[in-house]
Amino acid sequence: MSIEKAYNSWADQYDTNKNLTRDLDKQVTIETLSKYRFEQVLELGCGTGKNTQWLLSVAANVIGLDFSQEMLNKAETKINDDCVSFRKADLNLPWEIENDFADLITSSLTLEHIKDLEHIFSQAKDKLKPSGLFFVCELHPFKHYSGSQAKFETEDGTQELEVYTHHISDYINAAKECNLELIEVKEWFDGETQIELPRLVSFVFRK
Ligand SMILES: C[S@@+](CC[C@H](N)C(=O)[O-])C[C@H]1O[C@@H](n2cnc3c(N)ncnc32)[C@H](O)[C@@H]1O
Repeated sequence: MSIEKAYNSWADQYDTNKNLTRDLDKQVTIETLSKYRFEQVLELGCGTGKNTQWLLSVAANVIGLDFSQEMLNKAETKINDDCVSFRKADLNLPWEIENDFADLITSSLTLEHIKDLEHIFSQAKDKLKPSGLFFVCELHPFKHYSGSQAKFETEDGTQELEVYTHHISDYINAAKECNLELIEVKEWFDGETQIELPRLVSFVFRK
């Protein structure tokens, strides 16, 4: 099943099924970005808008891009605000956003579905204003190495989604190629003892 179709099927349960990764990502987004204020935010793979509503508390305007119409329908039902717009778009294509537009681009739990990281970082660089930030939060590659990946339950059993493993160095090198400066990197664990593999990794890059 294509990634787009899989998310169309997942949309109904995405906000409500048990999902530690989704929940931790929200916490990471808030902890990392609360100290900033933004004018224009571009949210890549906004999905059901789980982070969009919160982003409005630090931003004047948010544009959410996603290629799953069903995920976007959920987001549009939840968030009805003139400061937010949702657009159907495939991130693998050039983004129909003017250059030097955003002072923040966010991407949560989306890049594991994108093969060509260089394309994403190069588009992000073009769409960011000078000094703009690119926030990325993803399933930690250690989790990929140990066999974890995005999946959900259906009546016919577990549906696993197509994913690509990006190593920590892949993110850093893709950013470096585009002259984006790494200003923060952090690993995030389920428990305070940090004895298990980190669940998520987050980065903040600056143009
Ligand atoms: C795991 S969900 C994350 C949604 C949201 N960011 C969150 O944290 O809850 C991944 C999202 O990325 C979107 N996505 C994956 N590949 C995409 C692509 N090539 N173009 C646009 N959206 C994509 C999916 O449709 C899905 O909504």
